[in-house]
Amino acid sequence: MDAPQTFIFATLDELAEAAAVQITTAIKAAVQERGHCLIALSGGNIPPRVHHIISILPLRTQIPWHALSIIWVDERYVPFDSPDSNYLLARQTLLDHIPIPSDQIYPVPTYYATPELAATVYDRQIQALLATHGGQIDIAILGMGADGHTASLFPNHPALNAAANQHVIAVSNAPKPPPTRISLTPSVLNRSRLVLFLVAGADKAAMLAAALHGPHTPTDIPAQIIHPTNGQVVWMLDTDAAANL
Ligand code: 6PG
Repeated sequence: MDAPQTFIFATLDELAEAAAVQITTAIKAAVQERGHCLIALSGGNIPPRVHHIISILPLRTQIPWHALSIIWVDERYVPFDSPDSNYLLARQTLLDHIPIPSDQIYPVPTYYATPELAATVYDRQIQALLATHGGQIDIAILGMGADGHTASLFPNHPALNAAANQHVIAVSNAPKPPPTRISLTPSVLNRSRLVLFLVAGADKAAMLAAALHGPHTPTDIPAQIIHPTNGQVVWMLDTDAAANL
């Protein structure tokens, strides 16, 4: 892995704008080099802003939507129409506004009877998608909580120890509500070509400094577990989150 890059922006709007441009550039490069692009979306507060920017001009017409496949970094185990659904969030802020074929959108199938079953089915889907995308996620968009979690990988949680050949895991007792979730595992996230961490807000400042410059303790700080073997990590921060760096 190349050394992580860090970019700091004066405002959340500037951060979102820069992230949208970076995502657009990475999608175009992937499609130019390999003919298609696999992107993994997150929930949280920043992605909706980024989604909006890529779904309107000028970026909207620059993105080869026909060559894009969309998966989720993590999902809450709730119905598709729940206000807690990361899929619904993406629909409202992105998917309903872009010309992407619906069969290239792969939401976590939360309609299965148990989160474990949903995770197993999604695991197979992710495995199949990776097989047609050179074994890598082209772009993974991640956030980080003030407790150091990323995706739905929480501190000191068993999901951190998922087997290396497991792509997706069901998560129970998550400290961030809702408590039952489904997440990509560290091993598959570490097969990303580009990881974009989008982090804003003063409440993240102490943890961000620990994640980037503190001792390597990924069990306590799951964001530290992200280090793609063949990829680049880029941290995009606002000045509040970066205050302690
Ligand atoms: C989720 C998210 C989660 C998020 C972080 C950061 O489903 O809850 O995918 O992992 O990225 O909690 O979210 P904020 O940027 O809103 O703090």
